[in-house]
Amino acid sequence: MNEEFVSRIELLQRKFKKREISIIRPDSEFPELLVTVPDDWKTIQLAPLYDVHIGSGEQDAELFAKHLEWLSRTQNVLTWNGGDMCENATKYSPGASAICQKGTPNQQLFDAAKLLAPIQHKMLFAIPGNHEDRTFNEAGLDGAAQLAEHLRLPYFPDYCFCTIKWRGNNFRLCAHHGSGAAQTPGAQRNAARKDMPWSHFDLFWTGHLHQPMGDIVYQTDFDQSTGRIFERDAAVLISPSYVRYFGSYAAKKRMVPGGRGLSVAVLNEDGRIDVSMHARGKRI
Ligand SMILES: [Fe+2]
Repeated sequence: MNEEFVSRIELLQRKFKKREISIIRPDSEFPELLVTVPDDWKTIQLAPLYDVHIGSGEQDAELFAKHLEWLSRTQNVLTWNGGDMCENATKYSPGASAICQKGTPNQQLFDAAKLLAPIQHKMLFAIPGNHEDRTFNEAGLDGAAQLAEHLRLPYFPDYCFCTIKWRGNNFRLCAHHGSGAAQTPGAQRNAARKDMPWSHFDLFWTGHLHQPMGDIVYQTDFDQSTGRIFERDAAVLISPSYVRYFGSYAAKKRMVPGGRGLSVAVLNEDGRIDVSMHARGKRI
C-alpha cells in the first residue's frame, strides 16, 4: 500500500506506441519542425484534427470517435492538433457555450489526452485555437500547451512550419489555427491564402472557420543547384470541424453552416499532393 502516486496522464503516457517517424525541433527564432518519414512508406496521408471541440454541447462525438478509429488503424497516416481541440468555454465566452458545455475545461483536457493517447505516435505537433486562447487571454493558462505536454508533442503558440522529408522530397507545411470570421466563399478563400504573400510552402492548412475548403494554387520555384525553374503548386486547405450547427452559437448568429469531419492530403513520391474532402449525406 506504500506505492508512489502515478498521475492519470503518466498512466496514459506509458501506453504510447513507438513512433515510426523522427521529429526534430531545431533551436530557431522561427516555429520550425523537421519530420523524417521512413522511405518504406508508400504514401503519406496527412489528416489533421481541427476544431474538434471536445465538450461542446453540439460536438459530433460519434463522428470524431469514428475518425479516431480510422486514424488508429490506418497505416502511413500523420496528424496534428490544429487547435480548438476542447470547447474550453469560460463565463466570458459568447452565447451560452459555458452553460451548455459538457464537463469543465479541466475535464475536457483530460478527455482529449485520453482520446488522443492511442494515436500519439502519429501526431506531429500542436498549435492552439481561439478556444484555448480564451483561458490564455484571461489567465495565461493555455490548454493546448498543457495538452501538448501531456501528449509529449512539440508545441507552437501560433504557426508551425513543418518540413516533411520523405523519398527525396521536402513537403513544406504552414499550419495555423486560422483567424477572422469570414462568412462568404470569397472571404474564406482569402483567409485561407492569407500567409501566401510572405511565405513559400506546399501546403497552407488552417481551420477555425468550420468551413471545409480545398484550393490549388499554381506556383513555381527555382532549383538552386541548376538555376532552372519548375512547377510547385500549393494546396490551400481549411479543415472542417466536429461541431453540429443547429442549436449552436453559430446558428444563433446566422453564421454559415459547414461540413464536419476530416480533410486529408496524400503526399506522393513524385511530389504530387492529392486532397480529399467529403460531401456527406444521402442521395435519395
Ligand atoms: Fe473552432
